Amino acid sequence: MKRLILLLLVVTGFTSCNHEQEKTYWDYMGDFDMYYSKAYESYSPNKYFKDGKTLQKPVAGTVSRESTPYPFKDKFADKAKAGQLLKNPFQPTKENLERGKEKYNIYCAVCHGKSGKGDGHLTKLVKNGKKLYPAPPADLTAGYIKAKPDGEIFHVITMGSAIMGAHGSQIKSDDRWKIVLYVKNGLK
Ligand code: HEC
Repeated sequence: MKRLILLLLVVTGFTSCNHEQEKTYWDYMGDFDMYYSKAYESYSPNKYFKDGKTLQKPVAGTVSRESTPYPFKDKFADKAKAGQLLKNPFQPTKENLERGKEKYNIYCAVCHGKSGKGDGHLTKLVKNGKKLYPAPPADLTAGYIKAKPDGEIFHVITMGSAIMGAHGSQIKSDDRWKIVLYVKNGLK
């Protein structure tokens, strides 16, 4: 009897391994598109669109749910107006400052430095005796920056400044406001 059980175990052991691993055999609910997604890959061809691509631009006039359309167009002419009209929807709570710091360190510190004094990594790069990044980034700990209305700093982050690039498309609106809080209340 013992031998028979052993034999049965060995036989079931071997037969339950199949060597055709690309075949899946039985699927439970396989017919309901749950195992085999019919979604298109981003870069795969797609016969349903005129240009034959899966990735499509947003429909003209639409915005993504997380974005807030920005009402100002000119980085210089509209800066003061943005400062007067835009109000920071967030308070400098511990969480908001933490979030602002995290985003500041990702997007701003490379130029303005972790301390905000304008001594970030890019400013230290030198090639053939020449600085690779030509203009000194503003010292964000300076009094005139702290005195700026939140909306003005938000405008600079969104639209850019003289040679500083615009960050409106990289950083979500909520996070830009939290960066403003961190610049004004976190950097010393
Ligand atoms: C690639 C480098 C670079 C990055 C990244 C960068 N800045 Fe700047 N920033 C500058 C330079 C250079 C200046 C000074 C010249 C100018 O105004 O363009 C400046 C100026 C500023 C000013 C002063 C503008 C004024 O009105 O006088 C503020 C505020 C500022 N940056 C905030 C930020 C914040 C916040 C971030 C991150 C979201 C950031 N910057 C990212 C280079 C950078």
